[in-house]
Formats: sequence, C-alpha cells, structure tokens
Amino acid sequence: MKRFGVLTGGGAAPGLNAVIRAVVKASASHQCEVLGLEDSFDGLIEPDRWRVLTPSTCTGILRIGGTILGTTNRGNPFAYDTGGGAKSDYSARVLEMFHKMEMDALVVIGGDGTLAIAHQFFKMGIPLVGVPKTIDNDIVETTNTFGFDSAVSFATDAIDRLHTTAEAHHRVMVVEVMGRYAGWIALYAGVAGGADVILIPEIPFQMEKVVEQILTREKFGARFSIVVSAEGAKPLGGKVSLIKEARGEFVERLGGIGALVATDIEQRCGKETRYVVLGHLQRGGAPTSFDRILATRFGARAVELLLEGQFGHMVAFHPPDIVAVPLEKIVGRTRNVPLDFDVVRTARAMGISLGD
Ligand code: F6P
Repeated sequence: MKRFGVLTGGGAAPGLNAVIRAVVKASASHQCEVLGLEDSFDGLIEPDRWRVLTPSTCTGILRIGGTILGTTNRGNPFAYDTGGGAKSDYSARVLEMFHKMEMDALVVIGGDGTLAIAHQFFKMGIPLVGVPKTIDNDIVETTNTFGFDSAVSFATDAIDRLHTTAEAHHRVMVVEVMGRYAGWIALYAGVAGGADVILIPEIPFQMEKVVEQILTREKFGARFSIVVSAEGAKPLGGKVSLIKEARGEFVERLGGIGALVATDIEQRCGKETRYVVLGHLQRGGAPTSFDRILATRFGARAVELLLEGQFGHMVAFHPPDIVAVPLEKIVGRTRNVPLDFDVVRTARAMGISLGD
C-alpha cells in the first residue's frame, strides 16, 4: 500500500476541499492511504500536525469553502519565521519528517509561492505533484486555476447588486476586486456584470478616459456608471496602491485604488460616487460547479501522476484536457492578461472603457 501526503498552502480559495476529497477518493480506489498535513508545510515541520484522511472523513466537503487542513501564506520552511524577525531553514526537518512518516509522495495544493517551495523540495528528493490554486488565475501554463471561477461569480453577483442601487441613486459605483498583479477577476467579472469601466494592472489607466466614459454615458441618458478596478490597477506613470509595504516574509498588501478612483471621479465629474472593496469575500464560500469539476479533475489526475511516478509536475488545464507541466516551467512567472486577448477585445467591442 502506498502512502501519500496532501497539504494546502497560500491564501484560501474555493475548491481546496474538493481537491483534497478527490485526492483521497482516487487514492482509496487504488488502495493507497492519504495523510492530511495541517497548515501547509507546518504539517511537516511540527510533529502531530497530520491525520489520516479517508473517503468517509471527506464526506460532504466537496461543496464547502476553505480547507479542512488549514493553510498559511507565511511559513516557508526554507526561511521560517522563528519570532522577532529571526529566520531558520527547516527544510532538512521537512525531508526527515517526510521519510519518518513513511510517505511515498506528496500532493501540494497551492499558488505560485507554495508551488515554488514544492519545486525546491522536489529538487531535494521529495517525490511530489503540484495542483494550481488561486482566485487570481495568475499561474502560467494553465488556462484556469480552481477558485477563479468562484471569485468571478461572487464579484459578478456583487456588481449586479450595485447596478440596481447605482441606477436608483444616479451614482457612480466603484468596485475594487482582488487579483494581485493580474486583471483576470476584474476583466471577467466586469464583462459578466456589464461594467462601464474596467481597470486592470496590464493597462495603466488615465483618469481623463474614465471621466470621459462616465460623462458620455450621462450625455446619452445613462445617469449611473459601474467601474470595476483590480486591486493592482495603476494610473499611467503611477504606482500601485498599497495597504502595507512588504516587510520580512510579508509580501506587500495591495488595496486602496477603489477609494482613490472614486474620490477622483467625484471631483472631476461632480457626480456622487461610492466605492466597495470586495476583499476576502471573494476567497470564501462554496465553489461553483465549474470549480468543483476542475478541482476534482485536478485531484484525480494528481493521483494518476503519483501512481505513474511522474513527479515534479503540476496538473494543468489545457481545455479540454488535464495535463502535466514540469514545475520548473511555472516557477517565478506570472500569467497576466495578454493585451490582445479575446476578452479584452470583447470588452472594448461592448463599449467598456479600459481607461486607456
Ligand atoms: O492571491 C490571492 C489573494 O487573495 C490576492 O488576490 C490578494 O492580493 C491576496 O491574496 C491577499 O492576501 P492576504 O491573505 O494576505 O490578505
């Protein structure tokens, strides 16, 4: 009987539990055992932070957000925060623990940061397979990460609700969505929600163009407008808005652009403008059916790769197939929205201003 470990790392995203369940079920159908490791690689650093997962312990989790294993977006074993700003390299301990627990391989479910750590452990000799997770959809070599569709779905619903109140009050509503340095959530939710302006990091915006769009709509009788801004959007020649600068293992926290854009619109257009930051609401809640299927396919394929001995790979969606991509091809890269992408052109064709 083979024994696999599974862990979830980085920010939560809808569908994590669906992948865990798929890994456990697919393993069980091949008579393999699964150990669930808690809080990302902490489960391989601290003793007793694991438990045996079986199909019956995973009953009912397919539709639940979050992760039954817990997660963290700090806790890199190669630079582990031991308090007071001190760092220790716990990678040898992870390796030792992996062997002590008599595991044959690992499934690492995470975003770019977690997958980069996984790649380092693979190079140190841990057989593993990665599963791409993030609401941001910014991992290269896969058209979709799981979690993205659920985040877009939530943001679209929020835009729908803002539409009715914006129209009733003849206001401009600015919605700030997540996505870090990529505009996927803003672009998709903006198009799905019928936004009038979409601001994404890939296309630095000019306020004059945003204002022009709002005033043109006004002229033709639409007395309200919806602006969707990615948290990483920035003005031409300007910088991204930060809530917090990077410090130690804490990466910079993006945010605040929605408020800036709203204040500027109100001043320039003289129109009452409000803003909403959707924030972590986008990371919570149940996965959509698309994400449940993708997560389940990813989990099942990851187990196939482990059984085939195809380690050091990430499962990826190349529609209509789930394929294996070497981890080294994805490390250190970000998947941005291509400027000539069909959805960008579609947005323009729908009369949506991208602020350029
Ligand atoms: O990567 C996912 C994400 O939700 C980003 O969209 C966002 O910028 C970031 O994580 C927020 O991270 P934290 O959990 O530290 O608030």
